Amino acid sequence: MYNDSAILPSPAQTALEQFPIVFSDAVDYAGPLGAAWAPGRVNLIGEHTDYNEGFVLPIAVDRVAAFAGRTRSDDTVRLWSAHFQERAQFSLEGLPGSFEQQRAKLPAWGRYVLGVAAELIREGVQLAGFDAVVLGDVPLGGGMSSSAALEVAAAQACALFSAGRFSIGAAGATLTPMQVAAICQRAEQAASGVQCGILDQAASCLGRPGKAILLDCRSLEYRYLPFEAPAISLMVIDTGVSRDLADSAYNERRRQCEEASSLLRDIILQHEPANETARSISTLRDVTPEQFARYGAELSELLRRRAGYVIAEDARVLQTVNLLETNAFEEIGKLLWLSHAGLRDEYEVSCLELDTLVEIVRQVPGVVGARMLGGGFGGCTMNLVRDESVETLRQSVEQQYPARTGRQASIDICQAAGGPGSAWVG
Ligand code: GLA
Repeated sequence: MYNDSAILPSPAQTALEQFPIVFSDAVDYAGPLGAAWAPGRVNLIGEHTDYNEGFVLPIAVDRVAAFAGRTRSDDTVRLWSAHFQERAQFSLEGLPGSFEQQRAKLPAWGRYVLGVAAELIREGVQLAGFDAVVLGDVPLGGGMSSSAALEVAAAQACALFSAGRFSIGAAGATLTPMQVAAICQRAEQAASGVQCGILDQAASCLGRPGKAILLDCRSLEYRYLPFEAPAISLMVIDTGVSRDLADSAYNERRRQCEEASSLLRDIILQHEPANETARSISTLRDVTPEQFARYGAELSELLRRRAGYVIAEDARVLQTVNLLETNAFEEIGKLLWLSHAGLRDEYEVSCLELDTLVEIVRQVPGVVGARMLGGGFGGCTMNLVRDESVETLRQSVEQQYPARTGRQASIDICQAAGGPGSAWVG
């Protein structure tokens, strides 16, 4: 994961330039100036399957969160968010025990960094204090995992500024990328109260240029698939709706899935008492589409819709894997429309603005597929669009979206990019 290339992502570059302006050079720093960063992600398909121990297929993108700073000679971490124009400060001393008490005094963005430091220390890793400017270009709260990018970049920064106390990487390092993902997932849960899965943090930790990542969220095994869509752009359209209200609904969906899987196990066993495999059903990942077709009707209407979506979405991920191997993007597009319909009608995590964007682009010839991205209730849609249709799509959204929703959408084209990195610069 260590990447000391001279090519820094632009938020890292800007943060480096701001560091001497924001932090006084009267501080007795214990090390040189360095930067650390990590990407956001889009998820090609496999939404709300991660906490059901199913499959996801994310792509790390060329948008990052970055830290630029220096190691201090004490246990203090001082941060300046260039985006929020706001300071945050905490102490490594007493973590993780002092987490709750310190969390209460921090702005939301600072809590993620505190969470990462606390979880690293819980893991037995030794940290050093540091000062850093924080900056990113992942749209905030937009379903592209700005918080996971911040957490994974924070872990990279903690490693860099620990001045050799610990490292992140493959063979010989203190922590593997997947261990960092799990630490950052716990940090997210502690900082935000959302019982998120591991999708976002794993995607950020594992990104590779030109690749999608198939992750089994139970075994945490992963493999890379080509994401080299010839003449197709990966467009992300932001509804402009912030996802603030999503947290309680997310935890509620998670509980509903847990309830549905345990009821389905009991129902299957009532009908098939000798079915030993059914006895070990512990999440919706273990329920096959055939079992669901046979017994799903015995669930309440609500749980049937929730479970039906998750079981079908898991199957769609595996179908997409086969299609990616042959670059069958038209077929992948069909699965994206179905995924959106399931998230809208069965899982009920979409919203008017997301649905409107998907409806608008569906009328544009050359749009291969589109769907809402991430947790839902706002944020972005993900669109696979033939290059020659990009401008038409842009015009259609600009003409229709404000009139239909009273909001402005912002449109971005992303590339499948590499994972985290860090570098000393002087
Ligand atoms: C959020 C969560 C992830 C995942 C997605 C939905 O991004 O952080 O763990 O559950 O929603 O797929």
